[in-house]
Amino acid sequence: MKTAAPLAGLPASVEIVEVGPRDGLQNEPGIVDLDTRLGLIERLLAAGLRRIEVGAFVSPKRVPQMAGSGELVKRLGRREGVRFSALVPNLRGLEAAIEAGVEEIAVFGAASETFSRRNINCSIGESLERFRPVVERARAHGLPVRGYVSCVAGCPYEGEVPVARVVEVGAALFEMGCSEVSLGDTIGTGTPRRIAELVRACSAGIPIDRLGLHLHDTYGQALANYLAGLLCGVRIFDASVAGLGGCPYAPGASGNLATEDLLYMLEGMGIATGVDLDALVAAGRFVTGALGRPPASRVATARGVTPD
Ligand code: HMG
Ligand code: MG
Repeated sequence: MKTAAPLAGLPASVEIVEVGPRDGLQNEPGIVDLDTRLGLIERLLAAGLRRIEVGAFVSPKRVPQMAGSGELVKRLGRREGVRFSALVPNLRGLEAAIEAGVEEIAVFGAASETFSRRNINCSIGESLERFRPVVERARAHGLPVRGYVSCVAGCPYEGEVPVARVVEVGAALFEMGCSEVSLGDTIGTGTPRRIAELVRACSAGIPIDRLGLHLHDTYGQALANYLAGLLCGVRIFDASVAGLGGCPYAPGASGNLATEDLLYMLEGMGIATGVDLDALVAAGRFVTGALGRPPASRVATARGVTPD
């Protein structure tokens, strides 16, 4: 299926950030045990993924699915050429992440006031003030920090979100020291036009090679939206194996685009990712087998994959 070279104007390679172990498993109704979380991450590593968001140092009362992230990170240890990252909402989370040995953290803000309050219990302005010392201290420890902006194409509570608000929050995160900013279409309502508009607007303040996309597939638009982002120059793409995921504070939102489906498109366009599709399908099969349902990946389904 691989073409010899990418189409004119497209890059030879892009970066995939696998968020399944965090975004995916945080939204499961049941709590997935640590051995299964580790088993999934090992399989993702075997598939060639080098940036994996493995957990979250958030309140276990709010998101019990992510409890044990410290132990998980410790058990994973360090791997050559691999960056394990985790969500960190505050200084307390940062201390725990550093103690566990996380190699990258992500702070997570939003472009919608109501979502910010529901998700992290503070306003957008307060969240930025809360993140500032977290970013400073993380950088002082040599940890790169990713900044998320949620609700970039719409909010589950407020509906429309102005592009200017996304630009403002993204720029604030970048200016405070985030090494990259990932734009989250939390509820998957965006279409290629909106994504292109966002990327163009945000890239005025954030270099395009530091801008990522984190697109949920609730409305079936994510693959088209990633293509729009790719054509606009984005080179960092978040995806979730087997299409796992959602956000506990975005009711009804489905998972990120399945990593398998993103990879299939990129490979078909001659764009390298360093990830092996068969091994990735096997990783998705492992986790969905443990969850007792088939993968949401179209590629995995087309290949006749069923849960173990
Ligand atoms: P708060 O209630 O404002 O803070 O929570 P608090 O300081 O008053 O603490 C409340 C409780 O949490 C206390 O415990 C603290 O000790 C504890 P209690 O006294 O009730 O027993 N606590 C913590 N425990 C462990 N680790 C910590 C920590 N901090 C406080 N770091 C907070 C603020 C942000 C902590 C809370 O609201 C929270 O944990 N929210 C969860 C947010 C979350 O994980 N959401 C899902 C991920 S975001 C997402 O999915 C979107 C994304 O994928 C992008 C996209 O799709 O758009 C990234
Ligand atoms: Mg998400």
